[in-house]
Amino acid sequence: MSASETDLVTAAAVVRENAHAPYSRFKVGAAVRGRSGKVYVGCNVENVAYPEGTCAEAGAIAAMVAAGERELLEVAVIADSPQPVPPCGGCRQKLAEFGNGDVQVILATTDGKRLSTTIAELLPGSFTAAHMDRA
Ligand code: THU
Repeated sequence: MSASETDLVTAAAVVRENAHAPYSRFKVGAAVRGRSGKVYVGCNVENVAYPEGTCAEAGAIAAMVAAGERELLEVAVIADSPQPVPPCGGCRQKLAEFGNGDVQVILATTDGKRLSTTIAELLPGSFTAAHMDRA
């Protein structure tokens, strides 16, 4: 991994500690690098009304957008799982909203496993604004 990838995974690992996951007990951390170079982080925030919980990726994306950025160039997600955890379907669509298909997504485990993929690999055949064009 490059130094910038290692930094991103580290940022995701640090924020993961803040996850609110009393129901699943599965803490997830995510970090995205915006076009400016700044890193934005998020963790999963569960709720006793289970569907109200939010994923780590959603939190990181929201932080990026709240800071005024609209494009992400790199993503890292980390969890304490046997294999690197793939983002859920909804988070794949959220990542595709703000990142090109070739954006690297590093999936990591707390014990050091790494899997590198891309937004396009995670979400083939994605729905885009072009699908709403009639003309
Ligand atoms: N979760 C994430 O935050 N990101 C993922 O990529 C996979 C799943 C969270 C949602 C929920 O709080 C917990 O992990 C178990 O599904």
